[in-house]
Amino acid sequence: MKKRKILVTSALPYANGHIHIGHLVEYLQTDIWVRFQKLRGHDCRYFCADDTHGTAIMLRAKKEGKTETEIINTMQKSHEKDFAALEIAFDHYGSTNSEENRQICGEIWAAVRKSGIIAERDVEQLYDDQANTFLPDRFVRGTCPKCGKKDQYGDNCECGATYSPTDLIDPVSTITGATPVLRIARHLFVELEKEHKFLNDWTANSGSLQPEVSNYLAGQFLNEPLRPWDVSRPAPYFGFEIPDSPGNYWYVWFDAPIGYIASTLDWCKKTGSDFNSWWRDPNAEIHHFIGKDIAYFHTLFWPALLKISGFNLPTRVHVHGFLTVNGEKMSKRNGTFILAADYAKHLSPSYLRYYYASKLSNRNEDIDLNLDEFENKVNSDLIGKVVNLASRTAKFVEKTGLSQSYPNDNGLFQKAAETGVEIADAYDQADLARAMRLIMECADRANKFIDDHAPWTLKNDAAKRQLLQEICTIGLNLFRQLTIYLAPVLPTLAKQTEELLHDTFTHWDNSSQPLVGTPVAPFTHMMTRVSKEGIKAIIECSKETDAADHADDANAAIQDQWNDSAESLEAEPLTAEKISIDDFVKVDLRVARILEAKEVPEAKKLLQLTLSFGGNERRNVFAGIKAAYKPEDLVGRLVVCVANLAPRQMKFGLSEGMIVAAGPGGSDVFLMSPDSGAKPGMRLH
Ligand code: MSP
Ligand code: ZN
Repeated sequence: MKKRKILVTSALPYANGHIHIGHLVEYLQTDIWVRFQKLRGHDCRYFCADDTHGTAIMLRAKKEGKTETEIINTMQKSHEKDFAALEIAFDHYGSTNSEENRQICGEIWAAVRKSGIIAERDVEQLYDDQANTFLPDRFVRGTCPKCGKKDQYGDNCECGATYSPTDLIDPVSTITGATPVLRIARHLFVELEKEHKFLNDWTANSGSLQPEVSNYLAGQFLNEPLRPWDVSRPAPYFGFEIPDSPGNYWYVWFDAPIGYIASTLDWCKKTGSDFNSWWRDPNAEIHHFIGKDIAYFHTLFWPALLKISGFNLPTRVHVHGFLTVNGEKMSKRNGTFILAADYAKHLSPSYLRYYYASKLSNRNEDIDLNLDEFENKVNSDLIGKVVNLASRTAKFVEKTGLSQSYPNDNGLFQKAAETGVEIADAYDQADLARAMRLIMECADRANKFIDDHAPWTLKNDAAKRQLLQEICTIGLNLFRQLTIYLAPVLPTLAKQTEELLHDTFTHWDNSSQPLVGTPVAPFTHMMTRVSKEGIKAIIECSKETDAADHADDANAAIQDQWNDSAESLEAEPLTAEKISIDDFVKVDLRVARILEAKEVPEAKKLLQLTLSFGGNERRNVFAGIKAAYKPEDLVGRLVVCVANLAPRQMKFGLSEGMIVAAGPGGSDVFLMSPDSGAKPGMRLH
C-alpha cells in the first residue's frame, strides 16, 4: 500500500470558553480518524490550536483586570488538559497568537493585496469613549424602547422586542457605564466576487466537499454575487495589526484558519520536518474536520485565500452536524450543557468515544446523545460483547498461554479478517457508524462461538485441557482482532489487550495474522459498566456551570457570516404598538400583475400603473417609484398591492390602491416579488 502523507485539522476552539461535549463530537471524530490512518502506517499528522483573537477576549480581559495573554494562556492549558482527558492526541497544539501565525498571515496578506482584491469602505458602530473600544451588542444595556423596562440587552428585551442598540433609551456601555456614541471607521474588504468562478468550480468539482455541502453553497451563496468580506477591525482589537494599514487589525476569522498552517510550522521547526512538503506539495493531503456552522468560512474564504497565496487546497473538508442531548439543544437548565472536564471527572472517555463513533456517519446530520441509549449501548456492546470475550476466556489460559498453532475455528478468524477490509474502508471514508456496525457483527459471531463451546464447562475435565486451550486461543484471537479494529476508538482497551497477550499492535494488518504461543497475563478487569450515578453526576455539574458565554458561539458565527448592518432599523425602528390578527386581515393584500406602466409628465416621482388581479379586475395606481424603475422594466412583473385602500383623487387621476415596496425612498426603493408559482389575485395571509 502506498504510504500517504495526510495533514489533519479540527477547528480551532475559541479561547473564551471551555470545551464541552458538543465540541467533543468534532475532536473525537477527528482523533479517531487520525489514529486509524496512523495505524494503517500512513504519515498522518493532527494539528490544532487555540483561536485566541477578537473582541470577546479583549473585553473579558478588561472585565477581569487581566491581560489578554494571561487569559488565553490559562484557557489554553485548560483546553489541552480536557483534550488529554478524552484521549485526544494532537501532533501539535499551537495558538493563533504566535509569531509563526503573524508571519504566515503577513505572507498571505501580501499575496492577497498583490492580487488586487482588497477594497476600503466606511462602517458605523457603537463606541465606548471611556474604554476606547467599539461595542458588540451584548455589551450595551438600557431601557427597552418598546415596553420601558430598565436594564435590557442591546439587541433584545425580556418582553420579546428586538431592536438595534441605538434605539435603547439611556443606553450604557456595560464596560464603563458610559453612554456610547456612533463612530465611523474605515474597514478593508476582500472582494470575494473576483474568485467566484474558481469557487463555483472548486466547490462543485474538486471532490473535496460532501454533496449536501456543495448544494448548500450553490443554493445559498454562489447563486448571486459574493459579498465583500470585511477582514479588518479598527483599534483597539486583540489581534495582529495589519502591516500596511496601521491602526487596523485582521479580523479574527482571517487569522484563525491560517493558524492551521502556523501550527504545522511550529511542529516542523520542532521536529525538523519539511514545511513545504505539507503545505506546498500536491502529494500531501489536507483534511479539515469542522462543524456545519463554520462551513461557509472553510469552503469559500479559505480556499480563495489558499489559492491566491499558492498553498495546497484542502483535499477534503469533512463537515459534521450539531449535537443535541436527549433530542434538545444543549441547555444549562436541563443539565445537558456538559463540560468535557465534568464528563471526564465522572465517566470513562471510552464510553463517549465509542458512543459518538457509533453515531457519526460521514454526512452532516445532527447527532443526538440520548443518555439512556448511551448507557445501554456502551454496556451491551463494549462490556457485553467485546470485553466479555476476554473475561470469559483469559483466565483459563493464564498458565498455559495460547496454543502453539492456531486451531480450526471454522473460518471465523478469516471471515473477520475479510470484514476488516470493509471496516477499514468505512473508517477511511469517515463513516465511523458503519465501521462500528461491522465490528459488532464480528463480535456477535465471536460470542456465539464462545456460547456454543462454553469453556467454563471444560475447566475441570483433565481430558479436555487441550480443547480448553484451543477454544480460549480462538476466543482471545477474535477478541484481539476486535480490539485492533477498535484501537482508533478505544486506545486504552488496545493497550490493555497488548499487555494481556504480550503483544504489540504496530499496524492494522496485525488483525489478519492470528497470535499463537504467547503467554497470557493474569486477567484484570478492563472496563466497568456505565453507572447511572455517573450520568446523574455530570448532569448535576452542568447545572452548576456558568456556560452562558459559549451558548452564543454558534449564533455569533452565523451572524458574522451575513454581517447585516443595523442601519435600516436605526433609520426606522420597529413599531412598538401591537396589532391583533383582526387588524391585520383588514388589509387585503393581493398579488397583482403590472399590465401597463407609464410616466406622468407633471409628476417628478410617480409612475402610473395598470394592475391586474386576474380576470377583468383592474386597478389604476400611482406609485412613487420613478427614480428606481423604468416603466418598460415593470410591464409583466408581479407585485404586491393593498387592494382595499380607499381610493384617492389625485391631480392626475384616481389612485385605486397601493403597491408595497421596501427601502427609504428615492432611488432606494425595492418592489416585492412573490416566489414563482404565485398568481395574480392571490391573497397574502
Ligand atoms: N474558533 C472557531 C473555529 C475557527 S477554525 C479556523 C469556532 N470555535 S468553537 O469553539 O465555537 O467551535 C469549534 C468547533 O466545535 C466548530 O467546528 C464547531 O462547529 C464545533 N462545535 C461547537 N459546538 C458544537 C455542538 N454543539 N455540536 C457539534 N459541534 C459543535 O467555531
Ligand atoms: Zn421590553
